[in-house]
Amino acid sequence: TFVVDEDCDYLFKTVLIGDSAVGKSNLLSRFAKDEFYLDSKPTIGVEFAYRNTKVGDKIVKAQIWDTAGQERFRAITSSYYRGALGAMLVYDITRRGTFENVKKWLHELREFGNRDMVIVLVGNKSDLTDLREVDVEDAQKLAQVENLCFMETSAKDNLNVEDAFLQMITKIY
Ligand code: GTP
Ligand code: MG
Repeated sequence: TFVVDEDCDYLFKTVLIGDSAVGKSNLLSRFAKDEFYLDSKPTIGVEFAYRNTKVGDKIVKAQIWDTAGQERFRAITSSYYRGALGAMLVYDITRRGTFENVKKWLHELREFGNRDMVIVLVGNKSDLTDLREVDVEDAQKLAQVENLCFMETSAKDNLNVEDAFLQMITKIY
């Protein structure tokens, strides 16, 4: 499953999924380029970025795919998931509906994804504490039942973004 590359020891594919506007593209730009956009546009089709990380004494290059949360802008599902070893399933802690939809995304993951894919559940926008609609405990419970890693992040304030990606990458490795 690992591909050898010239400037790294391992290369693998991971995907971002979750409802529209939960912050997938900003999590990726924060991790890959340390950039955040307050007025980012919905993703259309597929975009991806790479980042090298050191795991032990090896250099691991993660290729991270990002697609639209909106059905009408999405890329072909089967090719999006093909070969992916990890998935970051993102919801927005200020919109309960995006958390309710986690089940729907898990269903899709299990239908199209690799059976032993590493899945990290991410509650993004943790900076917006006053607008919170999803309790940490509810997400922890779901993560436990579904056997997922879980973390809250803020792409805006750069909280736990690195940790969430690194948890996924290290687990795959
Ligand atoms: P689609 O491409 O439509 O699926 O959306 P997306 O999940 O990629 O969301 P995107 O990254 O475009 O972010 C949507 C909006 O949320 C933008 O206005 C971002 O600035 C904002 N946003 C993303 N992450 C955070 C965060 O951690 N905190 C706050 N306050 N806003 C955020
Ligand atoms: Mg996007």
